[in-house]
Amino acid sequence: MSGTAIPRLPGGVPGLGHALALRRDPFGLLLRARAWGDVVEIGVGPRPVYVINSPRVIRQILVSDAAHYDKGSLFEKASAVLGNGVVTSSGEFHRQQRRLIHPAFQSTRIPLYAEVMTALAEELSQAWQPGRHLRMDAEMHRLTITTAARTLFSSRLADHAVTEIQHSLPVFLSTITARALSPVPLLEKLPTPGNRRFARARQRMLRAVLSVIDDYRAVGGDQGDLLSMLLAARDADSGRAMPREQVYDEAVTFMVAASESTATALSWAFHYLGNHRAVEERVRREVRDCLGERAAARHGDLPRLARLRQVLHEVLRLHPLALLPRRALQDVEVDGRHYPRGTQFFISPHALHRDRRHYAAPADFDPDRWAPDRAPHIDPETYLPFGVGRHGCLGESFAWSSMTITLATLLNRFSFTPVPGHRIREVMAGTSRPCHLPMIVHPC
Ligand code: HEM
Repeated sequence: MSGTAIPRLPGGVPGLGHALALRRDPFGLLLRARAWGDVVEIGVGPRPVYVINSPRVIRQILVSDAAHYDKGSLFEKASAVLGNGVVTSSGEFHRQQRRLIHPAFQSTRIPLYAEVMTALAEELSQAWQPGRHLRMDAEMHRLTITTAARTLFSSRLADHAVTEIQHSLPVFLSTITARALSPVPLLEKLPTPGNRRFARARQRMLRAVLSVIDDYRAVGGDQGDLLSMLLAARDADSGRAMPREQVYDEAVTFMVAASESTATALSWAFHYLGNHRAVEERVRREVRDCLGERAAARHGDLPRLARLRQVLHEVLRLHPLALLPRRALQDVEVDGRHYPRGTQFFISPHALHRDRRHYAAPADFDPDRWAPDRAPHIDPETYLPFGVGRHGCLGESFAWSSMTITLATLLNRFSFTPVPGHRIREVMAGTSRPCHLPMIVHPC
């Protein structure tokens, strides 16, 4: 490395650096690092990691020089669970896969998937008993997993696979988190109850999903779902279809990417609405004006739910992914300094979104900052909920549709009250999610 010294965050422990602080309070650590400069060194174990806090330098790493980086060791660990799908792969293979599956996420397909979202949101609103205590985080996880499974496989041919996914995907999600945070990689190989549970879930998921892939191939045609798109995808140069194991990896990757982050955003949205009665009322009025006599929202309602969209923008500002890790694949230059191949960088949308240089009163929930008279003053480079560049979120339109339809449909029927005395804790798993979110639902 060359140039003047980079500030190192105080408080590291010899040999461990800031690893313990990062495990104990990742959000606090990232916010503290931000105060020390645009590029700040921390230690994760014996190795330095550079935390990037400048929107300009973030663009350099994620966009202009993106080819010089992969996502690093956390994603290598995730690939043991997810396989080699578009989230965990890098380089030329990632570029090809992304190009191949991109059509499945195009705006013309979203209204088809949205029919599933509407049906499931309505079903949930019928199932909830007024006055009940619900764990909203668990409810939203169940809903988004079922949404992912049903948009992937809409055909009745796949009913047994949908049931299997509802059962096994939570095991995949908890295994990714446990392995990403595990300090000892060898633990993954031991026959612990957790590892055995994951091995069983993977076997069952593999059997169920591969058998649906085979059934779809035999029947042919477009079922209006994501699997049909994955099977129809052809490489632009060779004209070849994806091997069935690759279709499986992309299917599992899609289900994990689509369910976890959407459930997190929805859970936080209910938390904030439950704690900001006036905002909740205002959004409900907008929803009722838009839906009229209908119980459930549809994809076509999205443009008329501007206030609800402001709430979601604000939720995604306050609780985006905590970290986008990157690792240099070659010697790199970042903001005028040189770093050797293998250097790790952390980009934190969480810290960026809570920087008072970019947002007034950044810790406050203020959806009006996204109102038409104020939003144009926000620099788009300081808002990264869906990432940017070659690894930017493929499911952004899908996510907007799913979040809006679910929130509108449930707000139309219920209001949400926090359980008195419960203190909510944010944990960094794949996303920055509320650990346990009990709420009481009232009809309204
Ligand atoms: C509120 C919901 C969501 C949020 C906040 C979110 C956020 C993100 C972010 C920040 C990234 C970039 C990661 C990086 O650069 O390292 C990403 C990537 C990705 N997301 Fe999402 N996402 C959401 C929903 C979805 C949904 C619903 C899908 C699928 C339908 C999806 C599929 C993907 C995929 C496939 C990638 C990897 C893209 C690549 O590496 O080429 N996401 N997401």
